[in-house]
Amino acid sequence: MPIQACRLIRKMRGGAQAHLIEAEDGRFYVVKFRNNPQHRRILVNEMLSAALLGYLQIRVPDVAIVDFSPDFLRSNPDLCIQLGTRRIPVEPGWHFGSCFPGHPEHVAVYDFLPDALFDKVENRDHFLGTLVFDKWAGNADSRQAIFYRARLRHWAPGNRWLPAKTGFLAEMIDHGYVFDGPAWDFSDSPIQGLYFRQRVYSSVRSLDDFQPWLDRVVSFPEEVIDDAWRRIPAGWLDKDEAELERLLTRLLARRRRVPDLIENCRQGRINPFPNW
Ligand SMILES: Nc1ncnc2c1ncn2[C@@H]1O[C@H](COP(=O)(O)OP(=O)(O)OP(=O)(O)O)[C@@H](O)[C@H]1O
Ligand SMILES: [Mg+2]
Repeated sequence: MPIQACRLIRKMRGGAQAHLIEAEDGRFYVVKFRNNPQHRRILVNEMLSAALLGYLQIRVPDVAIVDFSPDFLRSNPDLCIQLGTRRIPVEPGWHFGSCFPGHPEHVAVYDFLPDALFDKVENRDHFLGTLVFDKWAGNADSRQAIFYRARLRHWAPGNRWLPAKTGFLAEMIDHGYVFDGPAWDFSDSPIQGLYFRQRVYSSVRSLDDFQPWLDRVVSFPEEVIDDAWRRIPAGWLDKDEAELERLLTRLLARRRRVPDLIENCRQGRINPFPNW
């Protein structure tokens, strides 16, 4: 079920012109609108990607459908999409929300980390799992992530919890351009889907380093995809059902091709894996 937007915080950077809002559940969401300047289909891509990445056990923000009521929009006249000099009103109704990790006044969220801090990111290996996903889903964009500090609990051998300590976590964001964005196709260029910083791939020596994610994709259950589809609001599809069905059939059919697609990265202008 959708949750209501109740307070506008600010506009975010980026081509989709997402906005940060507080919702009735007390959480904050970065919202991409159905009538965003990229395309309505990027909301579908975001929603499906969150479910797929979640199943692959890669860290992503919680996602939600956020309802913008006519009253809320009337009381926030600044909320709009800017196209050149034109201001396009946000449509009332259901939009895509990606949960901000905590309260924006208390949690610092970074788009980039310097190398020294990057090495301290607890789930650095998720960048390898995410490349498996990005190649499978044909992400036409570069990989993007956010980083923030959180208290972490560590499971120690002998079944006991160690005291919490703080560390950096990465969450994968911006999946509007999987499936070639609005095209719903797979162009499979060797350089697409890569993170701009090669450091994340420095541990890679062979395809084995992309396990367990490669195996999880090969045996990816159709029901997870069907379930994700069922959660997409009809208004985001707007008669696209048959085309979405074709796309997802192709997605399932290419599960075994992912190792080849990763190997192809090495044929690009720059081999992203310095140790392979
Ligand atoms: N869940 C989130 N929590 C915190 N910040 C977020 C979250 N999702 C997105 N952001 C921030 O909002 C910005 C825009 O988000 P995103 O990259 O998904 O949108 P975009 O408009 O598609 O960007 P681009 O121009 O790269 O295509 C990001 O750079 C990031 O700083
Ligand atoms: Mg982006």
